[in-house]
Amino acid sequence: MIISVKTRDGEYPIIIEKGALNRAGEVFKLDRRCFIVTDDGVPEQYVKTLAAQCKESVVFKIKAGEESKTLDSFSAGLKMMLEYGFTRSDCVAAVGGGVVGDLAGFIASAFMRGVDFYNVPTTVLAQVDSSVGGKTAVNFEGSKNMIGAFYPPRAVLIDPETLKTLPQRQISNGLAEAVKMAACMDEKLFSLIENGDVYKNLEEIIAGSVMIKKHVVEQDERERGLRRLLNFGHTLAHAIEAESIRGGKTLYHGECVAIGMLPLSSEKARARLVPVLKKLSLPTELDIDAEKILDATLHDKKKNGENITLVRLKDIGKYEFDTVPFDEWEHEVKGWFEK
Ligand SMILES: NC(=O)c1ccc[n+]([C@@H]2O[C@H](COP(=O)([O-])OP(=O)(O)OC[C@H]3O[C@@H](n4cnc5c(N)ncnc54)[C@H](O)[C@@H]3O)[C@@H](O)[C@H]2O)c1
Ligand SMILES: [Zn+2]
Repeated sequence: MIISVKTRDGEYPIIIEKGALNRAGEVFKLDRRCFIVTDDGVPEQYVKTLAAQCKESVVFKIKAGEESKTLDSFSAGLKMMLEYGFTRSDCVAAVGGGVVGDLAGFIASAFMRGVDFYNVPTTVLAQVDSSVGGKTAVNFEGSKNMIGAFYPPRAVLIDPETLKTLPQRQISNGLAEAVKMAACMDEKLFSLIENGDVYKNLEEIIAGSVMIKKHVVEQDERERGLRRLLNFGHTLAHAIEAESIRGGKTLYHGECVAIGMLPLSSEKARARLVPVLKKLSLPTELDIDAEKILDATLHDKKKNGENITLVRLKDIGKYEFDTVPFDEWEHEVKGWFEK
């Protein structure tokens, strides 16, 4: 299956097909130098499969994990490209999850003011979410995705076979984002996750999610309006994630999104959402002090007396934007977690 995503300068194809990695050369232009970015948690066989199809390749392997998404890695990558004599007409390819994709895309955007970027996402999260939409970034001074660029790939290759090596918890982690998108925009996809065998239907779920994200980013490439919809559940998720890391209890991002969606869902929506999250072994309750989370989410904003725009789920497939003062939001969240 090929899904084409329009950008303001053109379009790029997303190929979703079992075994597609073996035929990457048919989709990517690899008769040149390819700078392959990956991490040490990604099974080597995927990098080797891609490298074997390149005229020449250089592998840049970072340490797995969010801590590697830094300006240091960015600069180490660029340095290596220079040392190996890469030119404007060569390319960069990511083989890995969202960390690798975000870093590789940013490297590609900057090297000699931009070289072709290909993405081979190998986590569910990267396949359904981060590889679509052209956002690239690294973390900076403690802030996530602080420095980066909008830099669409030339092509994205999603090979569901690569998920065979992905731990179950990581699969559920990515599916949380699929549930988020389906819950807001696509009742049919939600039903598929709700009623079917998620593993058997994984390719269809990935394709459905990519379609939703394509739809959203095509209308709002630069995140000025509709794209904020993808933040459903994320206001709280980010705070829960930060607090869980501080408490040494690292919850995955998707797990935090799962919990973060619930207070913003109507009772009717929640009645379907909770069983789906449980089916995916995602958490639906929080065992971290709600006060701490509130502090993390609201602290500095509250002082300014600002408003916050929330995405609320009225029913499965129906969302709305709601702008409320922070105080009100704080009150609401407290009420929810103190139940
Ligand atoms: N650009 C965007 O629009 C966007 C959107 C959402 C998230 N993100 C970013 O994505 C990142 C999270 O991505 P992620 O969840 O993929 O995390 P990740 O990239 O850290 O990957 C998770 C783990 O899975 C391992 N792994 C990857 N592929 C594997 C495979 N096939 N088999 C076995 N292990 C494998 C990795 O080594 C890593 O340890 C965050 O940095 C986030 O900011 C970006
Ligand atoms: Zn997310």
